[in-house]
Amino acid sequence: MAMRSIFRPDAAFCASVYGGGRRRSSGAGIPRFPRISNISTSSREETMKKAFAPPRKVHEQITHSMQPHKVEIFKSLEDWAKDNILVHLKPVEKCWQPHEFLPDSSLESFEDEVKELRRRSKEIPDDFFVVLVGDMVTEEALPTYQTMVNTLDGVRDESGASPTSWAIWTRAWTAEENRHGDLLNKYLYLTGRVDMKQIEKTIQYLIGSGMDPRTENNPYLGYIYTSFQERATFISHGNTARLAKEHGDLKLAQMCGIISSDEKRHEIAYTKIIEKLFEIDPDGTVLAFADMMKKKISMPAHLLFDGRDDNLFEHFSAVAQRLGVYTAKDYADIVEFLVGRWKVEELVGLSSEGRKAQEFVCTLVPRIRRLGERAHGRAKQAGSVRFSWIYDREVMLDGN
Ligand SMILES: [Fe+2]
Ligand SMILES: [Fe+2]
Repeated sequence: MAMRSIFRPDAAFCASVYGGGRRRSSGAGIPRFPRISNISTSSREETMKKAFAPPRKVHEQITHSMQPHKVEIFKSLEDWAKDNILVHLKPVEKCWQPHEFLPDSSLESFEDEVKELRRRSKEIPDDFFVVLVGDMVTEEALPTYQTMVNTLDGVRDESGASPTSWAIWTRAWTAEENRHGDLLNKYLYLTGRVDMKQIEKTIQYLIGSGMDPRTENNPYLGYIYTSFQERATFISHGNTARLAKEHGDLKLAQMCGIISSDEKRHEIAYTKIIEKLFEIDPDGTVLAFADMMKKKISMPAHLLFDGRDDNLFEHFSAVAQRLGVYTAKDYADIVEFLVGRWKVEELVGLSSEGRKAQEFVCTLVPRIRRLGERAHGRAKQAGSVRFSWIYDREVMLDGN
């Protein structure tokens, strides 16, 4: 049965920082903060915001919603995962590395290569940099995503070096993903176009905030979420590649393109897991799919904060939408793709609940498209916003 608990950010803050009232010395490496008991609620919130992460509300936290006996499904799929999922990883020796796409700091020509990179980046407009920074920050919060996958019952890496296929996948997937933030981070640093300190703070805030994907320790929900997200990142990095090419920077286009192709491999693996679950447990899987769709897929960086802009994620998303890097249409397209990929319409022999879930999922796309259009119309934010990531220069939110 699902367990419910409400996460209270202020309680967690008190427990972790003040350790149940124990006094801390102000030794090296331990930051000093004012004692919470001596300050008012609003300034306490302000302190929290400045200290670790913005005090955003998260949803009611439902945990362990998968029926316990279903853990056996994942144990029984161990060999299947070895033969069908691990094959979508690339051996390290065959993987690209960030170094190959960046000026080689061991060579005499390094400075010239950096100059050339900076010359190319001058042709790229600020709004593109805002989106690229947002994508990079999202990739850099990788510890959160590995943690998220390791919350899932039946597939988590129990020891940190577990030999199960599920754990091997998660570690190697994380290791592949780690190259994405690494490459984009180094590239952005070398351009000199962005405020690295603000960006680095944003990464620290985002990892400190975590994410709230509402996957309930449930691998059905978790792998539906990752299927969606890998496709979303495949699309968005593909679009940044296209734009970089349009701005005449073929090397940057190549970087975004190679990241996008990794995301595609990951999408194939995660969607295959859900395809297998549909085969073994169609009822449970269609219910999980409908559940995730009702909750809506939150983006991994939805708690984005740079220490200044309380609506940074919305502002970043508006620019990404305007440039066509990731749009409401893409969201609907991904849902449509997944419904087709998993042949949800063709499922037979479902329970009455399962049939309702099937009906819900199969009629969802036109509704998402209509709602997306209306929401976009309402949310259109005329004017521009200053992004700290680009030294407070202004960027248009919506060009229409
Ligand atoms: Fe990635
Ligand atoms: Fe990914």
